[in-house]
Amino acid sequence: MLKVAVFNFKGGTGKSTTTLNLGACLATSKRKVLVIDLDGQRTLSFGLGLDGDAPTALNWLSDEEIQPLATNTKNLWLIPGDLGMFQLDTDSDLFTPALAKLTEFDICLMDCSPGLGIASVQAILSSDRVLMPVICEPAVLKGLSEAVQLIRDERPSTPIDVVRVRYRPKLVITREADQLLSEAAEELNYRLLKTTVPENISVAEAIAHQQPVTAYSSRSSGAKAYKSLATECMRVW
Ligand SMILES: Nc1ncnc2c1ncn2[C@@H]1O[C@H](COP(=O)(O)OP(=O)(O)OP(=O)(O)O)[C@@H](O)[C@H]1O
Ligand SMILES: [Mg+2]
Repeated sequence: MLKVAVFNFKGGTGKSTTTLNLGACLATSKRKVLVIDLDGQRTLSFGLGLDGDAPTALNWLSDEEIQPLATNTKNLWLIPGDLGMFQLDTDSDLFTPALAKLTEFDICLMDCSPGLGIASVQAILSSDRVLMPVICEPAVLKGLSEAVQLIRDERPSTPIDVVRVRYRPKLVITREADQLLSEAAEELNYRLLKTTVPENISVAEAIAHQQPVTAYSSRSSGAKAYKSLATECMRVW
């Protein structure tokens, strides 16, 4: 199973939205995809219509025998989030043994909370790759380089893929941010993915309607972008 932590130190950068929609698009390729909600806010679980359901990520990390929940999307399963994730406090690695039990899936995307809590650190340390959604605005590089550095301190060679979301190509600030992001890629050692996900109201509405954007509005620019992102990820990963 390929393990991917969806992480950014900064809040509100589209981590949960990307986990949900990329997960749904990857699941159309016949691969069995598992998404895990590691955030006490539980946006991902809500967006899949399974907020409040159990077993949760805390049950999974507590060495209980659990079965991830099937979602309305074929080939997509979820381990829902738990408010108690905010209080997770341990020095021992809970993730490596818990992930090793998930033998029936091909890909696992872990939606991290903002900041750098214990669950995010352990998810990153136990992942094969990190996917980092960013918003192209003037300060993008500050948050990004801090987040990349946090990962590099512990895992110098874990590949980091940066995806631009809520993308507004016509803005001058977007072009300036693009320039900064492509110039810094080599120095900070990340891959800037070619696919961008546009600012698109259907993407935001789909979460409220508890569906992937590809189901909610399959012809929207957001749906097309997440399909392309899945194609690009399958090529790069
Ligand atoms: N492509 C998009 N177009 C329009 N709105 C978007 C898009 N992507 C995300 N959003 C909106 O941006 C907000 C933040 O998205 P999301 O919750 O996925 O971010 P996050 O990084 O998971 O946040 P947090 O750090 O709090 O966990 C949400 O209101 C979501 O609906
Ligand atoms: Mg989130």
